[in-house]
Amino acid sequence: MRAPSGYLLAARYRLMEPVGRGGMGTVWRAHDELLDRDVAVKEVRLPAVLDEELRAELCARTEREGRATAMVAHPSVITVFDVVTEDDRPWIVMELLRAKSLEQLIQEDGPLEPRRAAEIGRQILGALRAVHAKGILHRDVKPSNVLVTEDRAVLTDFGLAALEGDVSITQAGIVLGSAGYIAPERVLGAKASPAGDLWSLGATLYTAVEGRGLHGRRTAAAALAALTTGEPIPMPKAGPLAPVLDALLRIDPATRLDSVRASLMLARVAAGGSAEEPLPRRPSRPGSVMTQPPFTRRPAHRGLHRADAPAPTLNVPSPRQERKPGEGVHRKRGEARPAPSAYARLKATVIKLCLPRRFWPRELRKRG
Ligand SMILES: Nc1ncnc2c1ncn2[C@@H]1O[C@H](COP(=O)(O)OP(=O)(O)OP(=O)(O)O)[C@@H](O)[C@H]1O
Ligand SMILES: [Mg+2]
Repeated sequence: MRAPSGYLLAARYRLMEPVGRGGMGTVWRAHDELLDRDVAVKEVRLPAVLDEELRAELCARTEREGRATAMVAHPSVITVFDVVTEDDRPWIVMELLRAKSLEQLIQEDGPLEPRRAAEIGRQILGALRAVHAKGILHRDVKPSNVLVTEDRAVLTDFGLAALEGDVSITQAGIVLGSAGYIAPERVLGAKASPAGDLWSLGATLYTAVEGRGLHGRRTAAAALAALTTGEPIPMPKAGPLAPVLDALLRIDPATRLDSVRASLMLARVAAGGSAEEPLPRRPSRPGSVMTQPPFTRRPAHRGLHRADAPAPTLNVPSPRQERKPGEGVHRKRGEARPAPSAYARLKATVIKLCLPRRFWPRELRKRG
């Protein structure tokens, strides 16, 4: 049952009004009476059929994940203030954003410009990299879990992500995640992984630019079958974002774009360039990502390689032709030296007579 408006949670957070509703509960604008500030409170609804033990386990897991997320301070990771267990269910207290979810944005304004979608993707990927570095997986990246404010994109709903993958929960009939955004390997039963989160990001950005989900109106199984044929995924509106989406949405996680390369490509598209365009040259440091080979399967440029290019036809005289005889040409060993002039011979004699041998020029010392 939903809590009534005005409910005081944990003797501290007063629920004011719902700001959104999702598959697992209601998000409230609430007032933190201790710190006198507004916060968002996610009220999680658990099915009544859950037995005591499972219910307790779900609460404990949500608390654990809340704690884990609180370890990551990143502008694109929602800040979790508190996780409360009350009324036999978990409640997540977090920063209140003046935001629309990416799902709402697409519904209201239609598909996003590829450049804007790339910038949102770049920021959300930053969030994923930060949490992956702490060993946390999101497992539920999708448009409704990306909140877009005036100046940033924020990934939310980590607390619930912890529940996914639990066999007992699935058996209890709770549907977690959306079919269109779960990586193919997970649909086939593999464990969640950072690569799985990247696939979900690809599917999220696909929806953002195309204005419709990757799966369209097909069932998840039919869509998966379509993806495994290896046919290119149609993305007529993705423009410069297409190579990034194509590489993120690879069926095989081993050939999927990794997060470092994905963030470089997204940054280029967000900056108005092309995903595959090489970055300006910088002095390369050993181990620097700049020294990596190009990301793409296609050559990074389509110009002719030097070896393939026709020989230059300009009639430029070779430098040798312009030299005066003997100028700038290295002499080989054993080649006859030109005879010294009379002046040079006189100078040498004077030096030999007046100076000890160690002060003679090297040329004279060699000649003896
Ligand atoms: N911290 C927040 N600040 C402001 N609004 C939020 C916040 N968190 C969520 N919302 C709003 O609440 C809506 C519902 O979020 P919720 O996570 O409950 O649903 P969902 O993502 O659609 O589904 P699911 O239950 O699968 O997560 C979001 O779409 C968003 O508009
Ligand atoms: Mg959500």
